[in-house]
Amino acid sequence: MSEKTAKLIFWIGTLSSLVLFLALTVDTTAQFAALTHADRLDEQVVAGKRAFERRNCNDCHTILGFGGYYAPDLTRAYLRLGEDAIKRRLEHPEVAFADSYRKMPQQNLTPAEVADITAFLKWVANIENHDWPPQDSVARWKRSTERMLAAAALSPGAALVEQENCLTCHSVGGRGESKGPRLEWIAGSRDSAWIAEYLADPQKLAPGSEMPDYAHLSPGQRQMIGEFIAAIAAGRGR
Ligand code: HEC
Ligand code: HEC
Repeated sequence: MSEKTAKLIFWIGTLSSLVLFLALTVDTTAQFAALTHADRLDEQVVAGKRAFERRNCNDCHTILGFGGYYAPDLTRAYLRLGEDAIKRRLEHPEVAFADSYRKMPQQNLTPAEVADITAFLKWVANIENHDWPPQDSVARWKRSTERMLAAAALSPGAALVEQENCLTCHSVGGRGESKGPRLEWIAGSRDSAWIAEYLADPQKLAPGSEMPDYAHLSPGQRQMIGEFIAAIAAGRGR
């Protein structure tokens, strides 16, 4: 190959990559408003963002990859933990994380700050970021609903979850509500015995939580629910 041809290839390659890169950047920028649901950016969300900065939450936490790597990423925290669990962690981190190795400080947030930050985290969680970060893949959660529905026919635990209306506060896959953590998140960090014990008296293991007790169920029934939830984790990553 002559030097001239080599230079030609270099320039064509470099310039076409540059044009493509710029075009994609412009294209993505043009979609920002839609991807971020800018129409849902109300005053409370903005106040929440300000409080998040004022309280230096991102010294320890990341959102969309920005911030400190000491504590969990918060991009999808609202979707995995839900409204009430987030509030309790913000109000009483010293209680909520009492058993944790790493600590989140009690900053005595005002009730308004807690509400604003929760609204901000809810808005962030719904940014369309093409299923990133992957550990909180919404697409993967949706697939676990299919597993749950398939299991429900066979599993007495799944039937109890339906019967006791757990999904009026919890979600699994694309179903349910976001007051408490989603079942996939619970499955990833708890075993069936822990869940069974928790159901009997949530206040014992999570003081101050909004989770009702299920003391009216028998220990056997609580164990079946625990086994069903823990089994959701078995299908992780598929
Ligand atoms: C000094 C570091 C630090 C600061 C500052 C901090 N956090 Fe945390 N936070 C942590 C740690 C560590 C955890 C995880 C504890 C655990 O689960 O073991 C955590 C957990 C959380 C969780 C639960 C996440 C999950 O997935 O379990 C939320 C929500 C949260 N923090 C929000 C905030 C907000 C909002 C602020 C600012 C008001 C803040 N944090 C400030 C260290 C911090
Ligand atoms: C009224 C709303 C509500 C109902 C109904 C409800 N939960 Fe919860 N649940 C919550 C909230 C809120 C939390 C988060 C507690 C916290 O950590 O602050 C929670 C937490 C949990 C946890 C612990 C999560 C963890 O790993 O720390 C489990 C397990 C659980 N719920 C299972 C169930 C099951 C099973 C049912 C039905 C039998 C049910 N819940 C019904 C609101 C509810």
